[in-house]
Amino acid sequence: MGDFSIPHMFDKIVDKYELLNHILSFNLDRIWRKRAVKFLNGRILDVATGTGEIVEVVVNTIKYDFIVGIDISKLMLKYAIKNRKYERVFYLFADGEKLPFKNNSFDSIVVAFGIRNFKNKEIALSEFYRVLKDNGILVILEMLGPENFLSYPYRFYLRFIMPLIVSVFTKEVNAYYYLYKSIISFPRRSKFKSMIEDVGFKDVKVLDLTFGACSMFLAKKY
Ligand SMILES: C[S@@+](CC[C@H](N)C(=O)[O-])C[C@H]1O[C@@H](n2cnc3c(N)ncnc32)[C@H](O)[C@@H]1O
Repeated sequence: MGDFSIPHMFDKIVDKYELLNHILSFNLDRIWRKRAVKFLNGRILDVATGTGEIVEVVVNTIKYDFIVGIDISKLMLKYAIKNRKYERVFYLFADGEKLPFKNNSFDSIVVAFGIRNFKNKEIALSEFYRVLKDNGILVILEMLGPENFLSYPYRFYLRFIMPLIVSVFTKEVNAYYYLYKSIISFPRRSKFKSMIEDVGFKDVKVLDLTFGACSMFLAKKY
C-alpha cells in the first residue's frame, strides 16, 4: 500500500496538477478562481494555496496589501515558490487547522478546492474565524457537485470518465479516485453553510457556479 496521507498525495501529483485541473474542469476552474478573488482585499490569507494559482489571480487582478499562501504539501509549495514569486507574496508550510497567526491578522481568507481535504473542517473554520479581523471576509470555493438534474451525470463523469482522462496523463489515478470520494462524501451545501455559521460567521451566502459544479461560500466576521 502506498502513502495516502493528504500531503503525500498532493506531492505525487504536483507536476500534472494544474494541467489536469484545467482539462478535467474544461478550464472552468480558472473562471471560478477569478470570481472568488473579486471578494478579497487588504491582507489576504490563501489557505491550501497548492501551486499558488489563487495568488497569481490576486496579483494580476486586484489591489492587496500582502498575501500569505499556506499549505501542508512541501512539493506544491516548492512549485508555488518557484513559479509564483511576486512582490508582497509569502509562502509558508502550515496547517489550515492550526494557523500560526495571531487573532485578527487578515482582512480576507480564501480557500479554493482545499477544505474538502481537511480532516476536521469545524476546527479549520474556527481557525479562519480567529485569524480574520472584524469586517473580514471568508471565501470558500469547493466542488461539491450539483444537487439538481445534473447530479447523476456529474457523478458518472467523476467515477468513470475522469479516471480515463487522468490515466492518459499520469499513473496516479488513485489520487484522483480520492478526489471522487472526497466530493461525494462532502456535506451538502446547507449543512456546510450551518457549519460556517456555527463557528460565528454571519451573512453566509452560497453561490452555485456553472449549474452547481462548483460552489462559492461567502461569510463575514463582525
Ligand atoms: C486541490 S489543491 C488546491 C490548491 C489551490 N488552492 C487551487 O486553487 O488549485 C488542495 C491543497 O490543499 C492542501 N491541504 C490539504 N489539507 C490541508 C491543510 N490541513 N492545511 C493546509 N493545506 C492543506 C493540499 O496539500 C493541496 O495542496
